[in-house]
Amino acid sequence: LTRGLRARRTAPAVLAALTLTAVAGCTSSSADGTPGAAGVRDPFFPELGNGGYDVAHYGLTLGYDPESHHLTGAAEITARATKNLSAFNLDLKGLKVKDVTVEGKKARFNRSGDELTVRPRNGLDRGEKFRATVRYSGAPQTVTDADGSKEGWLKGDKSALAVGEPAGSMAWFPSNNHPSDKAAYDIQITVPKGLQAISNGELTKETTTNGRTTFAWHTAEPMASYLATLAIGEYDTKKSMTSKANSGIPVFTAIDPTLPEGKYEKTEKVLAKIPEIMDWAELNFGDYPFSSTGAIVDGRVDLGYALETQTKPVFPVEAADASTLVHELAHQWFGNSVTPKSWQDMWLNEGFATYAEWLWEEDNGGDSAQDTFDALYEGEYYESKADNEAIWAFPPARQSDAASISDAPVYDRGGMVIHKIRETVGDETFYDIIQGWLNTYRHSNANTKDFTAYVEKHAGDDKSREELKRVWADWLYGEGKPDNP
Ligand code: ARG
Ligand code: ZN
Repeated sequence: LTRGLRARRTAPAVLAALTLTAVAGCTSSSADGTPGAAGVRDPFFPELGNGGYDVAHYGLTLGYDPESHHLTGAAEITARATKNLSAFNLDLKGLKVKDVTVEGKKARFNRSGDELTVRPRNGLDRGEKFRATVRYSGAPQTVTDADGSKEGWLKGDKSALAVGEPAGSMAWFPSNNHPSDKAAYDIQITVPKGLQAISNGELTKETTTNGRTTFAWHTAEPMASYLATLAIGEYDTKKSMTSKANSGIPVFTAIDPTLPEGKYEKTEKVLAKIPEIMDWAELNFGDYPFSSTGAIVDGRVDLGYALETQTKPVFPVEAADASTLVHELAHQWFGNSVTPKSWQDMWLNEGFATYAEWLWEEDNGGDSAQDTFDALYEGEYYESKADNEAIWAFPPARQSDAASISDAPVYDRGGMVIHKIRETVGDETFYDIIQGWLNTYRHSNANTKDFTAYVEKHAGDDKSREELKRVWADWLYGEGKPDNP
């Protein structure tokens, strides 16, 4: 392996995903406007997201008290119409909407299921930038996914944690709730004094008045709604920095102070590895795409998995280990910066994050990625036969249904696809491809076709290209266990 000796690559200028181009001639009223769609045709979640507009910024002003479990919110959404609109939808689950304005004028609205339909007084013209505000309140809900996992708003004793993959962010704010529409965020949250309220990005304000503390968090880089988080409660927080030789950015960690002794110390030790993991990840994947990093560990809520919430992944205490930390930090590149166009492309997130774990182990005195691949292929990786066989249930890029988007084929067999690419093109080209892929799609969206096309284009020679086509057919799209490891 030559990777350790390779010079770090520098990323080209970041593409301006949020740059809004001025559109001429959009002053007339849109008599011909029609309603925006209530979904963006996601293959697994047809009602998530909305058509007809593109959000640039969410400004959320929230208040929450864990004792009463009452949330108040004002969401100011800055967006641009992508067609002439007579109405548009936002995704919102539960909660009571008090009023909606568009461009400062009261708008009519109605609710149906998780859809909030807004009818602006004047229609919106294609290309028009507009500001919509929604004021709402109520008890935010926990969402149960098709696979039985919990997301949305998780309530603890005097604490709360908001997580949103794939759908749960609509339990606490109205949005265009689909990974294809990323935006910048400012999240301001007021909680009873003595509690912390932690969110994505960097803290820009913390003030206490009349027994309540307000925290303001700023996320400048585009973020998908499923990556927004809020952690409310008592936390032990710590600030440090990543190495100056690399990104040199703030590291913000928060640990639930009620973790049992032993677990607490173990968690602290794991989180202390963040700067080292960041160095390793930057060497392998290129420049970190965000302006801060960190982690949140909580044992008070019923969270059965870790999640790569942007800049600050969250972990239940049982998943606060080094390998999961590597996985969630790798997602900041794979998933958070380069985001799937639909939930069918989830293997691009999980295959890479899983492969990052294998690489970390390989580089830190453990099994090589080849060993891990072989163990999975031979059915000797997991203890139970059922777990070993679950990898072959469906091809990674063709999940069976919404309940299986987080299943083993997406993770392990997804990782095996990445390993097959490495085996086909060799280490030097492999790392060029990974870093080139991340640079090309930085802060934007990509699907499986974009990925296979990119890899083929940069494979080096026709022989590799031919072999890659077989890898796609057998490993990415093929049913069952491929014959040839
Ligand atoms: N994306 C998370 C991870 O692998 C797992 C989330 C699982 N979520 C769920 N609702 N099943 O890091
Ligand atoms: Zn993951």
